Amino acid sequence: MVSILSFWTHPGIRGGTILATIRNSTEHQQKVYERWAPVYDRVYRGLLRDGHRTAARLAAEAGRDILEVGVGTGLALPYYPEHCRVVGVDLSEHMIAKAREKVSRHRLGHVQALHVMDAHHLDFADRSFDAVCLPFVITLIPDPERALDECARVTRPGGEIIVASKLGDGRGIQGAIEEAVAPIVHRVGWSSAFRISRIAEWAERRGDFRVAEIRRVFPNGFFKVMRLKHRLDA
Ligand SMILES: C[S@@+](CC[C@H](N)C(=O)[O-])C[C@H]1O[C@@H](n2cnc3c(N)ncnc32)[C@H](O)[C@@H]1O
Repeated sequence: MVSILSFWTHPGIRGGTILATIRNSTEHQQKVYERWAPVYDRVYRGLLRDGHRTAARLAAEAGRDILEVGVGTGLALPYYPEHCRVVGVDLSEHMIAKAREKVSRHRLGHVQALHVMDAHHLDFADRSFDAVCLPFVITLIPDPERALDECARVTRPGGEIIVASKLGDGRGIQGAIEEAVAPIVHRVGWSSAFRISRIAEWAERRGDFRVAEIRRVFPNGFFKVMRLKHRLDA
């Protein structure tokens, strides 16, 4: 047991380094979103509305039990149809507190629960949800493949994972600029250089999910919504 623990915590070993990176990044995200929580809705509501509406509608088409990962202040919650049962999780207790206020103020009866939780370790049983929705969060998660594996684990057979974010292809001048500004925008809790291919490669490696659709949304395709469908034949 001790040797297993020391493998995962020793900074000189790859597992330890990965865990230390996740821990640092997680603490960074918590600090950044504590500052964002009071002003987040005023800055982002309009900019992300199309992405939120599209992601919520696609998730609901996959079924009524939905998990939203990185739910933040709950800006997407009003867009799920009333017949859905939505559970939201987020790393930041300050963002979740805003989401709770919203649920009670707007009487969003379809929201079943909101929990503080890290996307790397989803505390739900296997196959709990018809759809897992990740609006504007995957690019901020230090180990996105691990988080996607968790989303896949809690998704029912034939269900879907819906990812909305700034997902680039890394090509041309835009790709070069996105790479160059990545360290700067990271400080304020944004991400610019995340590649759409990273998610497609994750799905291909696993073999039990396929990219079913990529939609370009406001503004002018800058953000994208990606549907990953569980393959019943895999
Ligand atoms: C840009 S905000 C998006 C919030 C909301 N989904 C929206 O679209 O308005 C990113 C959110 O992801 C959360 N987050 C970052 N890393 C996370 C992680 N590892 N697990 C869960 N939530 C995380 C942050 O706390 C923050 O609330």
